[in-house]
Amino acid sequence: MSDMNDDGRRQFTPEHAGTNDFENSRKSTLTRRHLLKMAGGALAFSLLSDLASPADLLAADNSGKPMKIVMLTGSPHRQGTSALLADEFVAGATAKGHTVVRFDTAFEKVGPCRACYYCEKHNGECIQKDAMQKILPEVLSADMIVLVTPLYYFNMTAQLKTVLDRMMPQRAALREHHMKSAMLVTCGSNTDWNMDAIMAHYKVLLRYLPWEDQGVVLAKNVFARKDIEGTAFPAEANRLGASL
Ligand SMILES: Cc1cc2nc3c(=O)[nH]c(=O)nc-3n(C[C@H](O)[C@H](O)[C@H](O)COP(=O)(O)O)c2cc1C
Repeated sequence: MSDMNDDGRRQFTPEHAGTNDFENSRKSTLTRRHLLKMAGGALAFSLLSDLASPADLLAADNSGKPMKIVMLTGSPHRQGTSALLADEFVAGATAKGHTVVRFDTAFEKVGPCRACYYCEKHNGECIQKDAMQKILPEVLSADMIVLVTPLYYFNMTAQLKTVLDRMMPQRAALREHHMKSAMLVTCGSNTDWNMDAIMAHYKVLLRYLPWEDQGVVLAKNVFARKDIEGTAFPAEANRLGASL
């Protein structure tokens, strides 16, 4: 399915497309419009209403240029619920000619930011020499970033957040570098408010960095792999990848 580099990075190219069951059967795109339609509620509208504008979505639907997409996953389960969404997104995106470079952050050696501000005095260089030395250049050269995570205490996992924190030395460069983005989230509960905090977080990331949102998949009520298999969520993730 992918080329596993010695350093743990997985790269998925268009040649890898077509190895997935969900491909071919999904032609339509998952955009905010579809999500709103499915959710159909005032809560979902209030959470998503500041994301991509109709003009952004049209641009995304019609751009068609092959992109380099960096995917950062946050689960310690290699075959968990969010891994399935990640796999499906990759299948959809590579089928459309995009290349996905995927880092499973739970399996990368990345230390938490020490807030030492060494980077401030050393031209954006971090004092820690670890996997961020390979991850950050990939992010800085990508056209799009995809965050994939299970919900842990209503937000992304610490493993994924650690990587985001460690982007701080290059925040100026990141803010100048235009990128599209998407987010895929899974969680065990089915309460109507359990995704509020992660959506609020995603929205401020969009605003700050700024990223151009291409869509989110919020898969609730899927505690373990068997719960998500057979639901519509994997197909939604595939469609989102294929919509780019
Ligand atoms: C530390 C921890 C915190 C969790 N917090 C939440 C939560 O806040 N809300 C929720 O619905 N599920 C929560 N869950 C359940 C996971 O989100 C759920 O099992 C998810 O499908 C796991 O994804 P994975 O298989 O990709 O690891 C938590 C699980 C763990 C281990």
